[in-house]
Amino acid sequence: MKNPQPTLTLDRLWHGGDYNPEQWLDTPEVWDEDLRLMKLAHVNEATVGVFSWATLEPEEGRFAFEWLDAVMDRLARNGIDVVLATPSGARPAWLAQRYPEVLRVSPDRQRELFGERHNHCPTSPVYRRLCQRINRALAERYGRHPALKLWHVSNEYGGECHCDFCQNAFRAWLQRRYGTLERLNQAWWTRFWSHTYTSWDQIESPSPRGMRSLHGLNLDWKRFVTEQTLAFMQDEIAPLRELTPQVPITTNFMGTYPGLNYWRFADTLDVISWDNYPRWHAQGSDVDLASSVAFLHDLARSFKHQPFLMMESTPSTTNWMTVSKLKRPGMHRLSSLQAVAHGSDSVQYFQWRKSRGGPEKFHGAVVDHAGHERTRVFADVAEVGEVLEKLRPVAGSQILSSVAILYDWENRWAIDDAMGPRRDGRDYQPTCEAHHRALWRLGVMTDVINMDQDFSRYRLLVAPMLYMVREGVAERLEAYVRDGGTVVLTYWSGVADATDLCFIGGAPGPLKRLLGLWVEEIDAITEDDANVWVMEPDNSLNLHGTYGVRQLCERIHPETADVLARYGADFYAGEPAMTVNRWGAGAAYYLAARTDQRFLNNFYAALARELHLPSAVPFPLPEGVSATVRVRGAQQWTFLMNFSAEPREVHLGDAARHEVVSDRWLGGAVTVPPYGVLVLEAESPSHP
Ligand code: GLA
Ligand code: ZN
Repeated sequence: MKNPQPTLTLDRLWHGGDYNPEQWLDTPEVWDEDLRLMKLAHVNEATVGVFSWATLEPEEGRFAFEWLDAVMDRLARNGIDVVLATPSGARPAWLAQRYPEVLRVSPDRQRELFGERHNHCPTSPVYRRLCQRINRALAERYGRHPALKLWHVSNEYGGECHCDFCQNAFRAWLQRRYGTLERLNQAWWTRFWSHTYTSWDQIESPSPRGMRSLHGLNLDWKRFVTEQTLAFMQDEIAPLRELTPQVPITTNFMGTYPGLNYWRFADTLDVISWDNYPRWHAQGSDVDLASSVAFLHDLARSFKHQPFLMMESTPSTTNWMTVSKLKRPGMHRLSSLQAVAHGSDSVQYFQWRKSRGGPEKFHGAVVDHAGHERTRVFADVAEVGEVLEKLRPVAGSQILSSVAILYDWENRWAIDDAMGPRRDGRDYQPTCEAHHRALWRLGVMTDVINMDQDFSRYRLLVAPMLYMVREGVAERLEAYVRDGGTVVLTYWSGVADATDLCFIGGAPGPLKRLLGLWVEEIDAITEDDANVWVMEPDNSLNLHGTYGVRQLCERIHPETADVLARYGADFYAGEPAMTVNRWGAGAAYYLAARTDQRFLNNFYAALARELHLPSAVPFPLPEGVSATVRVRGAQQWTFLMNFSAEPREVHLGDAARHEVVSDRWLGGAVTVPPYGVLVLEAESPSHP
């Protein structure tokens, strides 16, 4: 039996971030100044020890903890909670020199030299042992320290290693998965191009110098990299669990980082955290970007259905974007509170004080090289700190979603790796985001889940481009719809199974009964071309008119499904393009082509009406304004956020509501300024 997992219970929202005082060991006055400035910035948390290995263990087996003792004690004395990191994200030079096996081997089978970070071999027994040793030492020394609130294992796990240890572990993993080579050969369809394996040791990880287009191999390699990284993390965690069972554990994710299926990590971790670096003002419209960020926050919250932490963000700019534009006035507060609005219990930064040298000396920090508090960025940060103090009771509150978008890593891997139905613009994630965006505009709270999660808690399930259908999923979808759920599926669904073998009988494979149709072929349309679909008269959703469709259009044959729209042009003009199949107490919609955003907006507005999806607000949201609600019992906080550069008016209704940020009572018509945020408190929920 597993011990019950500890949870992070915060009685305040955290405001802080990466704090690296070891960079300033020679200037003790900086340490004093840090504490003075942290107070001014309303900082109550510091993430310590990320990348501190060389300072903590200057030579093998000799630990130097005195500086960290001092840091922990000073932070505790000042009421600042510590998130203590394990240092495996980068290693000391002595370690790499003595044990070259810890260095990664690249896909073209070259061993890396010492340097950089996030580049260890996850299989190396020596690296695992040395990580466990220092983690144990940290847990022994600080496990009962009053400042320690959370472990932060490593940093942004990622990448892959192709060394012999990893190759052997991969083969062993494949043997456990398939048992026999016959089954593996079948699953990977290796008779194609004469790729049949006759001995396990012939199998190598994908390489630009070797096998790179065997999709089943690629998929299994990605799965293996996830499992091996997870196993590495579990090894890191073992001494922490043993010595500090009461201290919860996190690691910082990177949104939808493609290299790891983060769902596999969720059970082992006690708290989800992630690093959020949007390109405000520099990547198309801020409004679209805001909804993409909302998608990532919603994902972070959905991994464990509990509040998460925004472990990193920049207080000003990053240094690694093509163009690092300054955040316009108001955007720091807005972007920070957006995280809280979607379920974060923290606003944390990388990093507290700007480094003097090294690769990140120009990355934004709370304290700039100027060294004092008289900067715009410092004032922005201090203001956010004050607001978070006012929002203190929000800590630990929940978000209740009536809708889920299905975004599945393995599905993404398979779609991205396939050759076809077009080389560019398969756009799995942007498509999921486009569907999410339509719900975001309505103020409908949405979780982001994968195909293994429980569907029954949602009224609506949206599964764009469900190319891969793993075993049992179609049956679970059928049961969900039969019991009253509504599902939205699209083109390029039900194409292949878990090893990327196409379903015999054609698409939508095992989803055929649920959708009541079969797919004959898919047309890929060039960027300068488009088609339209025309809504059928008197369709059940009461949608009218013509909508643009582009990039991917399927020719489908409804069997039991009703037609809601038909193509308007090309040789398949007049053929069905959108259908609904009533199934049990629910319904399964099918969009056979990629539509424009305008259609998705109207479609989800119609579904929201029909299914009575709760919205964060009882009024329509103006363009660029988003809304969420966090709840605890009868208490609720409605966040209204204006991501446009124009003021926007909302109509709050007659009863005045307390606005927490400005401490005013608001009712009637209210203007949300450009990049402005309102947080309205209420005692008893007005929405269902
Ligand atoms: C990542 C890392 C940090 C830092 C920031 C800079 O999130 O975890 O160490 O490099 O990026 O944006
Ligand atoms: Zn390796």
